[in-house]
Amino acid sequence: MRIKTGIFVLLSLFSCSLLKAQNKMTSTDSEIKVLVLFNTEHGGTYKMAKEMAAGIEKLPGAKAVLKQVPRIKPLENEVKQDFANIPYATIDELPEYDGIAFGSAVHFGNMSADMRYFLDQSVGLWTAHKLEGKPATVFMSAGSGAGREGAILSFWNTLAVHGMTIISPGIMGTSEIDKSIPQGNTVFGASSLAAAVDGNRPSKGELHIASLQGHALAKAAKGYQLTKKDIPPLSASPASGSPKPGRIEAKLKALNIQLPDAPAPVGNYKPFRISGKQVFINQIALKAGKVEHPGMIDREVTEEQAKQATRQTLLNILAVLKQAAGGDLDKVKQAVQLTGFFYTAAGYTKHAVLMNEASNLLVEILGESGMHTRATLGASSLPMNSAVEIQAIFELE
Ligand SMILES: Cc1cc2nc3c(=O)[nH]c(=O)nc-3n(C[C@H](O)[C@H](O)[C@H](O)COP(=O)(O)O)c2cc1C
Repeated sequence: MRIKTGIFVLLSLFSCSLLKAQNKMTSTDSEIKVLVLFNTEHGGTYKMAKEMAAGIEKLPGAKAVLKQVPRIKPLENEVKQDFANIPYATIDELPEYDGIAFGSAVHFGNMSADMRYFLDQSVGLWTAHKLEGKPATVFMSAGSGAGREGAILSFWNTLAVHGMTIISPGIMGTSEIDKSIPQGNTVFGASSLAAAVDGNRPSKGELHIASLQGHALAKAAKGYQLTKKDIPPLSASPASGSPKPGRIEAKLKALNIQLPDAPAPVGNYKPFRISGKQVFINQIALKAGKVEHPGMIDREVTEEQAKQATRQTLLNILAVLKQAAGGDLDKVKQAVQLTGFFYTAAGYTKHAVLMNEASNLLVEILGESGMHTRATLGASSLPMNSAVEIQAIFELE
């Protein structure tokens, strides 16, 4: 009898853990990640973004990630705002999500300049078909509400050019909201009338529509997730089989190098500029939003750390170069020139030793096409206390 009971307990434990493992597998498989990407100045769009995220997460297995669009010009007193701790997104992370909700203030019947500038960096994603089919939706915070429908519709143009699937709330939820006060919602997307005299905006009704819209986006994102693996995009399925990985990508893989996300600009400039066939890029030693090994070389920073910072700077340059080349480093014909600046004291002479780290890595990756002319200089300080800055010029095919 005792033996029988023991076997029963063991079997129950076994089947219980099997069930748990199965459940875990199912929930991981069915998890979707939806980005709520917003730009705000006074916080109205942020309040709507939070409600949009709440609506997304009402779908079981859906996770909403709130991120801000980087600013062209820093916002005074941003640190005091309740959205200060929401991280900034990079353009390269957009393909990672199963759906994206875009939120912006209405500026003269349009999206904000920060949002426009951010989306203008998506050319590489566009030419590489990275956002095709991905569900997207738009919500906005307006003042008086002037031009808010036009603002959402003109926002859709960019999403349509990317081939994204646009989700609109239509009239969902409108029968449930208080019609005795003006409500900002539109059939194209939730919106708020921040300048309404009753104050306390977004109103409950406006937030309600944002939540329903988020939920509708999550459902579409779920459908996208279920089909994106099974049906490869037409452009990626030539009759001869699956496309071969690029030559340089294969080289990076062989060297076990993963390029970082291209750092977003922190001012009113572009990460790269193409003039004729030449690409111009400048980078410092940013790694995941922070400077790697900041400080003066031979004072706060050892020679070894300065070499690591140099390597990181070169990888940032290659990440931006990849964007400039439409996502395909094979389109880089040759490196032309590298100029390395190192934060050093007067009298320092080993710049070339540090810069070799960048030169060698570039030639290792690009081969003969990576050979370049070079200049190295000492500087009495560099942006964000970086130990190194590199200017690079490449030629595209
Ligand atoms: C440059 C600028 C242009 C604006 N244009 C409009 C507009 O065309 N229509 C409107 O309703 N509100 C307009 N507004 C008001 C903002 O849309 C409104 O203050 C919004 O709630 C700000 O969103 P936020 O709280 O997320 O910063 C404008 C504001 C600025 C700064």
